Amino acid sequence: MFEPAQFDSDADAMRYAIEIARRGIGRVEPNPAVGAVLIDEQRRLLAAGWHEQFGEAHAEVNAFRDFERRHPDEAARAELIRNATLLVTLEPCCHHGKTPPCSDAVIASGVRRVVVGLRDPSPHVDGGGLRQMEAAGLDVFAGVLEDDVRLLNAPFLMLLQNGRPWVHAKWAMTLDGRIATRTGSSKWISCEASRAIVHELRGRMDAIIVGSGTAKADDPLLTARPDGPRTATRVVVDARAELLLDSQLIRTARDTPVIVATLESAPAENINALSSAGVEVQRLPAGDTPKHVDLAELLRELGRRSMTNVLVEGGGGLLGSLFDRQLVDEAHVFIAPKFCGGRDAVSPVGGLGVETIPQQPELDPCVVTQVEQDVYLRGHVRRTL
Ligand SMILES: NC(=O)c1ccc[n+]([C@@H]2O[C@H](COP(=O)([O-])OP(=O)(O)OC[C@H]3O[C@@H](n4cnc5c(N)ncnc54)[C@H](OP(=O)(O)O)[C@@H]3O)[C@@H](O)[C@H]2O)c1
Repeated sequence: MFEPAQFDSDADAMRYAIEIARRGIGRVEPNPAVGAVLIDEQRRLLAAGWHEQFGEAHAEVNAFRDFERRHPDEAARAELIRNATLLVTLEPCCHHGKTPPCSDAVIASGVRRVVVGLRDPSPHVDGGGLRQMEAAGLDVFAGVLEDDVRLLNAPFLMLLQNGRPWVHAKWAMTLDGRIATRTGSSKWISCEASRAIVHELRGRMDAIIVGSGTAKADDPLLTARPDGPRTATRVVVDARAELLLDSQLIRTARDTPVIVATLESAPAENINALSSAGVEVQRLPAGDTPKHVDLAELLRELGRRSMTNVLVEGGGGLLGSLFDRQLVDEAHVFIAPKFCGGRDAVSPVGGLGVETIPQQPELDPCVVTQVEQDVYLRGHVRRTL
């Protein structure tokens, strides 16, 4: 990646810190992705670092290590740091977690000024890092590109503030908006390059979720191929725990975890058979209808397991219920230049839907990319209700 030698403004340097923070996505969760940049008085880049791996050094510490590498002479370093500014996307932590407090490291570094993107709302930080650095006599300023940092860390903030993971929805559809034909055939709608993007996405998720209809129709494996930085637990929403014992999911359950989310009233023999096959059966209360599990409760359960990002891969029944309950946060939609036709072909989002056009949720911001012949749209879901 291009590394700028000098920045025009604090915001410009913060933008670069956000960019490098992204390199940790998929590796640092449930921690936030954080980037840090050290600049001199002319805003020349002195060093940069990001949080690379959960449990390992935070961004600020990595930036100071980079500073030592780039400027091996101790006296020269001491001279440079006296007038330097540290820009960090998230408030430095002030508590002993898996690593010592970053606020101590920042103070000990001798840096004069600290610019923070977003104050960390975690209860054990919550302004404490800022106050500690101010008390030590540093010039501290918070709130530069705060909204951009919120976007960067939307999954972290969702888990922290709502106790559930960030929900990504993915589907591949034809030009006439269908994800499967009237007979349930869906392999393949999108091209190989689009499917490779989905595998990359799977590789940074904590869970991949499908409805029982998709598990039955497609017999999917739901693993990332090739492997990504994390291994997702595969989750099937299946009210009666009827997932077939000879399905690919069950046959691989001892290698890659599978959870069947089912109703408390699911038949005991189904539950026992799944448990014996190495599946974790998660019994949940009924939601909107007595026939279906409570999806909000399922997400809270995944949140209790510190899952930060989950990918729902359909089908239309499950995604419709999630959209109706406003539980989809980001969408990844692949549109292939093909026609399916048929009133009974499967639509990507079933459920009840909205009543009027102004109520439609939309992708904002929406990024559109061409992938060979397919169009890939992705963005956060902005709710209008
Ligand atoms: N092109 C693509 O990207 C893509 C992706 C996925 C699937 N597909 C295709 O889509 C088709 C399957 O779609 P589908 O709509 O029939 O099935 P689905 O959404 O996978 O599964 C429907 C089932 O999900 C559960 N469900 C629905 N609403 C729920 C709620 N509110 N709470 C809890 N559970 C709920 C119900 O099962 P229980 O009653 O058992 O709980 C329901 O029968 C297949 O043909 C597949 O090939 C295509």
